[in-house]
Amino acid sequence: MPELSNPFSLVGKTILVTGASSGIGKAIAIECAKMGGELIITGRNKERLQETFLALQGTHHTQIAADLSNEADLEALIDTLPPLDGCVNNAGISRPMLTQFIEKKDMLEVFEINAFAPFSLVQKLVQNKQLKKKSSIVFTSSMLGVLCSAPGSSLYSASKGAVNGYLKGLALDLANRGIRVNSVNPGVINTNLFSEGSITQEQLDEQMQRYPLKRFGKPEEVAYAVIYLLSDASEWVTGSNLVIDGGFTLL
Ligand SMILES: NC(=O)c1ccc[n+]([C@@H]2O[C@H](COP(=O)([O-])OP(=O)(O)OC[C@H]3O[C@@H](n4cnc5c(N)ncnc54)[C@H](OP(=O)(O)O)[C@@H]3O)[C@@H](O)[C@H]2O)c1
Repeated sequence: MPELSNPFSLVGKTILVTGASSGIGKAIAIECAKMGGELIITGRNKERLQETFLALQGTHHTQIAADLSNEADLEALIDTLPPLDGCVNNAGISRPMLTQFIEKKDMLEVFEINAFAPFSLVQKLVQNKQLKKKSSIVFTSSMLGVLCSAPGSSLYSASKGAVNGYLKGLALDLANRGIRVNSVNPGVINTNLFSEGSITQEQLDEQMQRYPLKRFGKPEEVAYAVIYLLSDASEWVTGSNLVIDGGFTLL
């Protein structure tokens, strides 16, 4: 029987995923490995990173613990990376806070992890020519800061808005090398990022009802979109935002 070709296949692609020790990044790594990708996963927490590593289907995967807000860790990570076909900038923090309580140190912390670290990582990969021709860069952005915001989310939204501006310019800068740059923009996804906030179950239930599809998203549902953006199926897609929000921003 002839072999069926799959445009979403990641066979032969080496893919870096940041923030792979938890939540969406963990699901991205696991689902990309199922599609045949060779994964390099990174996160801060070594135990949880190892859990993700053990859940990866196939062989030839690598795990590298790194705090991306630490310049030395970032440099060490880059030094060990092979040429990449995919780079998923997913690590992030939320820090919900009303505007009047935000201090400069909070601004620096959120921007350091959500914006400056991925900007530096990508810049160094480009400078070192560690991104192959026709490679794909994906940012885990958010619907917040790009399409809408929420009370207590001004700082987080600002950081994701910065990512959005960056990726549009980057897509133009890298187009002549055939490198594509896109984002996934999720609504609320059931992960630690969301449940660790100060929100009560009652508030969560109320918020869930505001989603036309009447539930929050699952990490795997973001991972499937990332697979599309990393694969040859999206070869003519660059500078785009793929919204995954159960219809939330329709209203
Ligand atoms: N959950 C949502 O509702 C939602 C919605 C829209 C967008 N997003 C975005 O999705 C991404 C992943 O979030 P999540 O929900 O999966 O959250 P999560 O479960 O808290 O995972 C966050 C990941 O980022 C890593 N990370 C945080 N700070 C880091 C640092 N300084 N250096 C290296 N890694 C660091 C964490 O590593 P360690 O745990 O090892 O420290 C962890 O792997 C974030 O960019 C977030 O903004 C989430």
